Amino acid sequence: MIAQYMKELMGSRSASAIRRMFEEGIALKKVHGEENVFDFSLGNPDLDPPEKVLAAIEEVARDRAHGAHGYMPNAGYGWVRDEMARKVSSEQGVEVGGQNVVMTVGAASALNCVLKAVVNPGDEVVVPAPFFAEYRNYVRNHGGVLVEVPPGDGFSLDVGAIGARLTERTAAVLINSPNNPTGRVYRRGEIESLAEVLRKHAESCSRAPLLVCDEPYRAITYDGAVVAPAFQCYDDSVVVTSFAKDLSLPGERLGYVAVSPRCSFASELVGAVTFSLRVLGCVNAPAFFQKVVAKSWDAEVDYSSYERRRDLLMEILDRVGIEYARPEGAFYLFCKVPGRFSGGDAEFCDLLKKHLVLCAPGAGFGGPGWFRLAYCVPESTIVNSERAFRAAVAEIG
Ligand SMILES: Cc1ncc(COP(=O)(O)O)c(C=O)c1O
Repeated sequence: MIAQYMKELMGSRSASAIRRMFEEGIALKKVHGEENVFDFSLGNPDLDPPEKVLAAIEEVARDRAHGAHGYMPNAGYGWVRDEMARKVSSEQGVEVGGQNVVMTVGAASALNCVLKAVVNPGDEVVVPAPFFAEYRNYVRNHGGVLVEVPPGDGFSLDVGAIGARLTERTAAVLINSPNNPTGRVYRRGEIESLAEVLRKHAESCSRAPLLVCDEPYRAITYDGAVVAPAFQCYDDSVVVTSFAKDLSLPGERLGYVAVSPRCSFASELVGAVTFSLRVLGCVNAPAFFQKVVAKSWDAEVDYSSYERRRDLLMEILDRVGIEYARPEGAFYLFCKVPGRFSGGDAEFCDLLKKHLVLCAPGAGFGGPGWFRLAYCVPESTIVNSERAFRAAVAEIG
């Protein structure tokens, strides 16, 4: 018999809205034809993996050494962790050693391992909204309570509001930049102000919240936006990430946790994250793709086609009169439900669906009144969607 708790979770509208929309899209395409359905529901990167990654896959596949597919230490191959540490050191401008990196089964497993490591039942995880919808499930997985904090202007970090929600139960503050669903990249000044607030809080209650930076879109930025190096701003910080989006390898499930060498409990945290990976049943990250990314993580990737598609979609939304937040990274556009529409974001997405435009309601991301378009879709889908957006907007008068 399925546990009651799981039944409730699986049945909740927000828990499965995006996947359901994606599956409905497949059904609608069968009825109306692929080219007449405009599916902006899922953030599945559509660039092919770069040539360097494909060459590494071939090279690793040729390795017939004894034990090449065997277990390794739970945290991953030592040489792969060293290579990831080199990457993190260059991104953070802080020297990180391989002993501070744990290879994981994508960013999802990295997040779960970190949360398992630091969240006691009833502890709080403070998250600025809007946020990746799965955070709710991940925090709940470990008996934690997700504390949503509304954003500042232009989806900035409202550091004052975050500070006001910190308590002695706050285990972590979880931020995501570039953000899914807004595409916002937090400025260095915002991270520094947040760090200041966290330090003040730690002084007052002797518990320093862990700053968890979820960065799978770090490399995909536009207009010169740069993701701030959190390790330079706040000691008790970790980066969780994967190669799902930047190298277009979401199905291969490879990511890592990197713990700042300045973290006051760094080696204990690395140990707890490694133990979490084991007891959550992952045991270790996939052996094959650990080797592949260690050989190819620095591949040159041209993300300009995402930027072009962002621009195309923004032009269309401008023409049909839908407001949005201009994304600085990732491949999502967070759009405002028109003020004159009488329903909420779910109803507006239903209206769009009637016109064969599929997208995700904002409430699932902690952003009611908004909806998300994932523009990692063919350019023709974007161009041809204009008439459907126009028809939906015309219907509300
Ligand atoms: C912000 C964010 N974090 C984490 C993940 C999970 O990534 P992965 O597929 O590497 O587990 C995603 C996936 O869409 C995401 O958007």
